[in-house]
Amino acid sequence: MNVVKRCVVAATLGLVMSGLAACSPEAPEPTGCTGACNLASLGRARGIRIGAAVTANRLPDADYAAAVAGHFTAVTPEFDMKWRAIHPTPTSWNWDAAERIVTFAEQHDLSVRGHALVWGKASTNPDWLLAITDPAEFRSAVLDSIAVEVGHFAGRIDRWDVVNEPFLSDAAGLDPNVFHQRIGADYVDVAFHAAHAADPTAELWLNEATLERGHSRANAFVAFVASMVQRGVPIHGVGIQTHLISGNPLQPGVLGSVVSRLRALGLKVAITEMDVPTGSTRPASEQIAAYRQAADECFAAGCEEFTTWGVSDGATWLDLPATRAAMPELASFAIPSNPLLLDAAFRPKPAYAAVADALWARPLLT
Ligand code: XIL
Repeated sequence: MNVVKRCVVAATLGLVMSGLAACSPEAPEPTGCTGACNLASLGRARGIRIGAAVTANRLPDADYAAAVAGHFTAVTPEFDMKWRAIHPTPTSWNWDAAERIVTFAEQHDLSVRGHALVWGKASTNPDWLLAITDPAEFRSAVLDSIAVEVGHFAGRIDRWDVVNEPFLSDAAGLDPNVFHQRIGADYVDVAFHAAHAADPTAELWLNEATLERGHSRANAFVAFVASMVQRGVPIHGVGIQTHLISGNPLQPGVLGSVVSRLRALGLKVAITEMDVPTGSTRPASEQIAAYRQAADECFAAGCEEFTTWGVSDGATWLDLPATRAAMPELASFAIPSNPLLLDAAFRPKPAYAAVADALWARPLLT
């Protein structure tokens, strides 16, 4: 049995479920995962970031912190940089939680994806912003917020999700959200230009959901991004969230094709928020296969980052009542939905080994 298979089999049987070694310890060298199927080391050796969404108030938990530092090379703040959290009143900034994440990242050699400067979802925006009806005043609040936040972290955060989920979730066009209504249809461009002015060295990303489903919505999204590039908007990357909450399997080749088309525009591409709920109602094999397929297709087409939306099954937004209420399709997944790569005790799951194997198959940096 070669070592790649050993990784999967060992983890699938639950033989090796702790710490950094998800491979059989007697795996022959130098093939396979070379001693430890650790995502962070596999990713570093291949120039592919392995990320997790993190929350500042969990970092004092030593097990949580060890898992973040031990298995990942990048973090995305799950809440702490959202507008409602970081800029709660017109005159106040709440830097503390975001600072704790950035400082933790600096101490552990993790990069940070700033998330997210502009997002139309009402509940993530402060009431004071939503209350501004004058277009000029609203625009100035947005420009000011981007300038202050990106400027604050300049040199410490090297990439930002500038706009999150600009498209309608179920149609092939821009969501007529509050930013669109107040600033205009060019609000995405406006936000990117503002972020670029605040830190010309930062990578600026557009982040979107359900692109992995393909179809006309993904095609329209790729065309929208192409038009941004054509207009000279300073966009450098596109994030594909990959929350597989529909329960439907990935259609072979669709994710890879979306990645390839975005790469052909000269852009960087990442999986930015992957999770695959299973609960007790779905076979674990579906989760393992989904992670493996997403990783394989994304890496083969040139993705440079693979981030999951959370650290362990012990805490996931998919189990929160608010998320459940907003997404009825989650009802088919029992709680806990166990959607991540580490279990609730921070042990690597079979899905972790599947991503490790996908990474291992990628070429080493030379
Ligand atoms: C979610 C958080 O996980 C929730 O806890 C929060 O209440 C709402 O936002 N797409 C995104 C993320 O881009 O920011 C969302 O995170 C999940 C969906």
